[in-house]
Amino acid sequence: MKNYTSINDIDNIHNWIEEAKLLKANPFKHIQLGKNKTLGLLFFNSSLRTRLSTQKAALNLGMNPIVMNVSGDAWGIEFGDGTIMNGNTAEHIKEAAAVVSQYCDIIAVRAFPTLIDKEKDESEHVINSFVKYASVPIVNMESATGHPLQGLTDAITISENTNKEKPKVVLSWAPHIKALPHAVANSFVKSMQKMDVEFVIANPEGYNLSSKITEETPIIHNQEEAFKDADFVYVKNWSSYDDYGKVLSTDPNWMITQDKLGKAKFMHCLPVRRNVIVEDAVLDGENSLVIEQANNRTFAAQLVLKKILENA
Ligand code: CP
Repeated sequence: MKNYTSINDIDNIHNWIEEAKLLKANPFKHIQLGKNKTLGLLFFNSSLRTRLSTQKAALNLGMNPIVMNVSGDAWGIEFGDGTIMNGNTAEHIKEAAAVVSQYCDIIAVRAFPTLIDKEKDESEHVINSFVKYASVPIVNMESATGHPLQGLTDAITISENTNKEKPKVVLSWAPHIKALPHAVANSFVKSMQKMDVEFVIANPEGYNLSSKITEETPIIHNQEEAFKDADFVYVKNWSSYDDYGKVLSTDPNWMITQDKLGKAKFMHCLPVRRNVIVEDAVLDGENSLVIEQANNRTFAAQLVLKKILENA
């Protein structure tokens, strides 16, 4: 594997999950693999889990991680081809990616969408520019339309927490005061489409994800109906896709309560707003997997870095 930019880069999710479980059981087994190799982590946006778990994954493989907050600390980067750079951007991605490639053996990038310009966001111009102009492999730490490290993590977590042949998994929208990206939801959908699960999406009218992502996955606009017999309820807010980037509803009736959840396991990528997305009783209850999910971020990232290093 050269780059990991999408869930589509996973050739066999079942094999990947089993390999991630082996890494979790013995995290330092491949400590020699990354010796004298450097991972550069470039953040255009905030992070807690991705920033720390990806560094930890690199350290477990014997790599040296180096981190930069690009938006705050680097020169403003220009992505346009042929742009007359007499505005706020001081450095072109062509030079920036080539320069960072000399310092790093793998570059990991986080760059959120504008949520204003759908065409620009869907072009994935930031991550794709790094793929185009860097001379080393690129890892997506959440881009405009996908969060494949999270999607892999979530598949591992579901596999660890079921002994059913085909558990029922629901992805449910929940309210939020701000317009949030579609990336986590998109990658969760794509990872569930590769798993042996009964999968449905629950969201209000006007909140359907891109049909290019959901494909044949059933979408139900009634949360109670969707949650019936669910084994896992994965919760996330996203802004409208059709009315791009807009908050059409903050209906508190879509907040997750213990009553609605029943015996199902609760999942969320974090960070989560308590008593807006989900009530305290769920997060503090025994069916919440959120801390376990965050732990698995390390092993998802470690698996991806291992596969790239082995391919080098
Ligand atoms: N889930 C996740 O990506 O968390 P951070 O935004 O804190 O990295």
